[in-house]
Amino acid sequence: MRIAVIGSGYVGLVAAACLAELGHKVICIDKDRERIAALNEGKTPIFEDYLQELLDRHRGTNLRFSTELREAVRESLIILIAVGTPIAVDGDADLSHVEAVTRDIACAVDGYKVIVEKSTVPVYTSAWMERAMVLNGCEREEFDVVSNPEFLREGSAVKDFLYPDRIVVGSNSERALAHLREMYAPLIDGSYFQRADAVPKPDRADIPPVYIETSTQSAELIKHACNAFLAMKISFINAVANVCETVGADIEDVCKGIGSDTRIGPRFLRAGIGYGGSCFPKDVAAFRSAARKHGYRFELLDEVHRINQQQRHRFMKKVRMALWTLKNKKLAVLGLAFKDGTDDVRESPAIDIIKGLIQEGCQITAFDPAAMKRAEEVMGNSIAYAPDPYAAAKDADALLILTEWREFANLDLPRMKQLLNYPIVLDGRNLYSPADMAKAGLNYYSMGRAPLEISHPMPIRPVAE
Ligand code: UGA
Repeated sequence: MRIAVIGSGYVGLVAAACLAELGHKVICIDKDRERIAALNEGKTPIFEDYLQELLDRHRGTNLRFSTELREAVRESLIILIAVGTPIAVDGDADLSHVEAVTRDIACAVDGYKVIVEKSTVPVYTSAWMERAMVLNGCEREEFDVVSNPEFLREGSAVKDFLYPDRIVVGSNSERALAHLREMYAPLIDGSYFQRADAVPKPDRADIPPVYIETSTQSAELIKHACNAFLAMKISFINAVANVCETVGADIEDVCKGIGSDTRIGPRFLRAGIGYGGSCFPKDVAAFRSAARKHGYRFELLDEVHRINQQQRHRFMKKVRMALWTLKNKKLAVLGLAFKDGTDDVRESPAIDIIKGLIQEGCQITAFDPAAMKRAEEVMGNSIAYAPDPYAAAKDADALLILTEWREFANLDLPRMKQLLNYPIVLDGRNLYSPADMAKAGLNYYSMGRAPLEISHPMPIRPVAE
C-alpha cells in the first residue's frame, strides 16, 4: 500500500520505518529541511533499538523522506498524521499542528484518502479534523478520518510497533476500516513474525495481537485513559512506598505481594522518583482537561500528578537527611534521561532534581550512558559531565542514582566506596538491595525502605510531606 507519514518525530519515524518493514511503500514528510536531509543521508535523529537497521534496510526502496506534503498526499492512499501535540498553558493539548496539517492535506487531496490520526489527541479530534477537511474544500466522500493511537514506549518503540499488545482502530467507515486491516495484515495474521529477517519477538508478545475496531471517540479515549492509568499505577505505588517508610515496611516486598495478584500484575509498579517523559505528564493533564471540558471533574488525576511531583521533593529531603547540609556539597549523579534505554530528557525527574540541588548550592558531576548530549542542551555547563560512573563518583560526597539504567544496577560497589568522600548512596530507583549495600559498607537511602546507616545510625526520621 502507498502510505504517507506526516511528521518524522518519535512516533512518525518509527511508524514509517515499521510500515516499510511490513512491505508498504512509505513516504515520510517533515517541514524541517535539515532533519529530512539528515534522514536522506542515513542519519538517525533518535536513539532507538533496531531503528537504524530498519532505516538502512528500507531507505531509498520502501522508504523515502521528503518535505513535499502535497506530492506525498497525492501519491498515497493512507495518510498518517504523527505531529506533536504539546501541552498548552491550561493543560490542554495544543492541536494547532494537527489542524495545520489537516488543512494542508485538504488542499492537496485529489481522490479518496484515509487520514489516520496517530498523535495523542483528546476525544473529538477526529470530528474536528473531518470538519476542517470540509471547511477547506474537501468533499465528504473524498476522505475518511480514523483514530489509530500508538502505544509505543521510548527505548522499545520498534518492537512495540511490530509486536503490539493490541491495535486500536476507531472509525465509523467500513471502507476505512478495511484499508487499515490491510495495512496491518502482516501483524494481524502473524506472517511478519514468520519472516526470517523479522525483528526478534520480545518474550512477552502474543501473536496475533488483539485487534480492536471501535468508534473514533472510543479510540481517542483509550489512548488517554491508558496512559493516565499507567501513571496512576506509578503514583499509587509511590504513595504506598511513602507509607512503607513511615511504618517500617519494605516496598519491594509489598510490590511482590501486590504484583503477583494476576488482576494487578507486576509491571509499572516500580517505586521511585516518579514518572517523566513526553507522554505521561502531558497526557494526565490533557485527559483531565478534556474530561472537565465535557463536564466531568477527574480529580483522581490531580492527585496522580501531585504525588508524582511530591516524589521529587521527597528525594531532595532524603539527600538533605543523608548529607545534613547541601551548600557546596559535591554530588555524583548517575542518570539524566527520564528512564533507561533512551536519550530523552524531556520532563526528566532527574533533571528536575539536579536543578533543585544546584539551587541549594550543590556541585554536580553527572553520567548517563545515552543522554549526556541532550542533557547538555538543557543544563549547559551548570553541571560537569563524566565519562563513566566511577569518574563521576571520584571525590564526590555522595552518589545519587536517578535513572533506572541496567548498568547502574551492576556497579563495582567496593570501588565506589573507595572513590567517594563519604560512603553514601541515594538510590531514587531502588536498583540495589540494602543487603548488598551493607556488604559494601555503604550508607544506603532508597525509596519506600528504611535508611541503612552503617557508619553512624541516626534516630529514625521518616520523611514528612
Ligand atoms: C509511555 C507508555 O508506556 C506508552 O505505552 C505510550 O505509547 C507512550 O507513553 C506514549 O504515549 O507515547 P514512555 O513515555 O516511553 O511510554 O515511557 P514509560 O516506559 O511508560 O515510562 C514513563 C515514566 O514512568 C518513566 O519516567 C519511568 O521511569 C517511569 N516509571 C515507569 C516508573 O517510575 N515506574 C514504573 O514502574 C514504570
